[in-house]
Amino acid sequence: MSDWSAKNPYMTNITENFILNGEGSRKETRHIVFELGDSGLDYKVGDALGVVSENPPHIVEELIEVQGWDPEQIVTTHNGERTLYDALKKDFEVHLAGKKFVQSLTEKVVSSGMKISVKIVSRSRGKETWDSSKDGDLPPGLAKSAPSDDPSEKVAAIVGDEKAIEDYLWTRDYVDIMREFDVKYAPEEFFELVSRLKPRLYSIASSHDAHPGYVELTVGIVRFSYHGRDRGGLCTQFMADEIGTTSKKLGVFMSPTKSFVLPEDKSTDIIMVGPGTGIAPFRAFMEQRVFDGGSGKNWLFFGDQSSKTEFYYKDEIESWIDEGHLYRFTTAWSRDQEEKIYVQHRLKEHGAEVWEWFERGAYFYICGDKKYMAKDVHRALIEIAQEHGGLSEDDATHFIEKTMMREEKRYLRDVY
Ligand SMILES: Cc1cc2nc3c(=O)[nH]c(=O)nc-3n(C[C@H](O)[C@H](O)[C@H](O)COP(=O)(O)OP(=O)(O)OC[C@H]3O[C@@H](n4cnc5c(N)ncnc54)[C@H](O)[C@@H]3O)c2cc1C
Ligand SMILES: NC(=O)c1ccc[n+]([C@@H]2O[C@H](COP(=O)([O-])OP(=O)(O)OC[C@H]3O[C@@H](n4cnc5c(N)ncnc54)[C@H](OP(=O)(O)O)[C@@H]3O)[C@@H](O)[C@H]2O)c1
Repeated sequence: MSDWSAKNPYMTNITENFILNGEGSRKETRHIVFELGDSGLDYKVGDALGVVSENPPHIVEELIEVQGWDPEQIVTTHNGERTLYDALKKDFEVHLAGKKFVQSLTEKVVSSGMKISVKIVSRSRGKETWDSSKDGDLPPGLAKSAPSDDPSEKVAAIVGDEKAIEDYLWTRDYVDIMREFDVKYAPEEFFELVSRLKPRLYSIASSHDAHPGYVELTVGIVRFSYHGRDRGGLCTQFMADEIGTTSKKLGVFMSPTKSFVLPEDKSTDIIMVGPGTGIAPFRAFMEQRVFDGGSGKNWLFFGDQSSKTEFYYKDEIESWIDEGHLYRFTTAWSRDQEEKIYVQHRLKEHGAEVWEWFERGAYFYICGDKKYMAKDVHRALIEIAQEHGGLSEDDATHFIEKTMMREEKRYLRDVY
């Protein structure tokens, strides 16, 4: 056992870091391999890896510039004394703005009659709904209380409305807001208003038995662009852009799971549903099942936007099929045809067989998007129990949620 943790991570290198998507994809999903060296770190399939990252250098530099701060100034943070540059780079999340900071504008911004153009973009996957710089009108949430040319009234309108704060923050970082309202903060004052930097968790995509000394991830890089500036996720951009495959080290630790584990009995069949990056733990499960050599059958449901650009781990999947390790492989490519096809549609199409597997004691695993996909798949399972198990809606719900999930612990989820 090792003592590495979120507070005391093992500093390591990334040895492989490549894009899994084909040319023309809308996504950037990477396979990232970390060396475990002499750490003594071990893991089992189903565990997650914690990754400690840093803010992008250009964001830190822009912040320093817009505030007129001295990067070499010595400051004290929860991590002790360090330069202001290091504090901004490593101790706080300065890549996306937070609510507490926006609320602080109430005291900072005084009426000046200065004209400010506010652009509100809907949170629904970045779809723009309103832009005052184009039409001169006010957004719905601000219309009653905010004349567009008074900064203090504008701040009051944003701060006074939860939805307006959310929408406002969706497209802005600290640099945008500081520029927009021309506000200045002392470094320590700023630290009080921003979140401490937190590690991110990633479902491990490898079996340690198959890759001794290494741990591998499948990571969807979060990138977006607003107000003419590129930005994105803290940890995913850090791994993709700053670390790459350079010799720069980053901190990792293990986050073991108690529940998201393979059946102890290796003759038990398993169904795995993992669209998008949800495939990560199932690549690990497959590697482990091949290594263990049990007689249990494996059925993988995978999908993403297109078979041409998102067929992650295609060669490995095909060889598992050819060698008889993957008994069934069912795909749901959502954008390869007019109508959307998702994993839950495929589950329902194969409902009779899924039900037979459940009746024979198969385990059911799901990984990936929690907000929509996991809920829809859950609903599909209840419908399968109704249609093919002949159960009433209440009994089907009881079977899926109580019997399979809570009592028998064979409906297991890793959703985020
Ligand atoms: C147990 C567990 C396992 C996980 N496994 C995986 C995995 O295997 N692979 C994987 O890729 N991820 C996985 N995740 C998610 C991962 O932990 C991170 O949340 C993810 O990588 C984003 O981190 P980030 O630091 O890059 O982004 P953050 O800095 O945390 O930013 C993400 C935030 O950006 C904002 N945002 C996103 N898109 C937009 C947009 N278009 N416009 C404005 N704002 C936007 C949203 O507020 C979003 O919450 C897992 C999470 C958990 C809890
Ligand atoms: N917590 C976080 O910070 C964080 C970070 C990264 C990712 N995530 C979430 O994790 C998920 C994984 O991202 P990803 O790129 O790997 O894959 P994804 O966006 O979930 O997409 C994978 C596949 O699922 C489809 N899909 C969309 N809605 C669905 C639904 N309701 N039911 C079933 N399938 C659905 C997508 O189709 P279409 O695209 O064609 O609709 C696509 O084919 C994302 O949804 C994202 O929101 C969260």
